[in-house]
Amino acid sequence: MNESVTVIAIDGPSASGKSTVSRSVAKRLGFVHVDTGAMYRAVTWKAIEGGVNVEDNIAVIGMLHTVKISFAVVEGTVRMLIDGVWPGDAVREPRVADKVSIVAAIPEVREILVHHQRSLTSLGNLVVEGRDIGSVVFPHTPYKFYLDADPAVRAQRRQKDFAAANIQTSTDAVAKNLQTRDRIDSQRATAPLQIALGATVIDTGHFNIDECTKIVVDHIRQQSTRRGATTLS
Ligand code: DC
Repeated sequence: MNESVTVIAIDGPSASGKSTVSRSVAKRLGFVHVDTGAMYRAVTWKAIEGGVNVEDNIAVIGMLHTVKISFAVVEGTVRMLIDGVWPGDAVREPRVADKVSIVAAIPEVREILVHHQRSLTSLGNLVVEGRDIGSVVFPHTPYKFYLDADPAVRAQRRQKDFAAANIQTSTDAVAKNLQTRDRIDSQRATAPLQIALGATVIDTGHFNIDECTKIVVDHIRQQSTRRGATTLS
């Protein structure tokens, strides 16, 4: 990793508020925002589109070796393109959400995506959100956060996202999908979801977006001052 670059790691389960807070923190600090969940979703989307059985690790890995992955920054956020295509909102569809934990549990898929995630420091200072950012991808960053919220609050939030995108689904189905994903993400052998050593834990159910953003930014500034770092303004 480029030592002169600052990385802010924001981990947590699905619908914990990571994306909204990460985007907001990145905007406030002028950092580039990276959503690593969208990268695992994009690989899952590509496999489904190509008729690859996502339960077949060898087939998924084979597909990943044949595609070209590239990146673009649009409005402060990194987009991962596969064979030149950015899948956009298609990665949020239930058919992708239902399978992404299976693909994200494949060690070789993680190895390839982690390599790409680390390479993004060439873009400058980053706010990176995911499950293993503080524990595996950037374990040496001093700026680590773990966002969480009550499962019912998270299910309601995700249901709202689906409704806004005109995707028909029930609250029950959403809650079940979150539960299943939490279980697979937390119990997998490689880079499971966990609170990274030294991470600051924030329950986003207790605060609005502006308050969460302020908590994160204030914390970073305090730590940065204590460390004598000069990259934050
Ligand atoms: O944050 P999200 O819901 O978009 O994540 C989609 C899936 O990808 C989820 O099952 C967890 C997985 N993921 C992961 O394993 N590691 C990451 N760094 C980010 C996401």
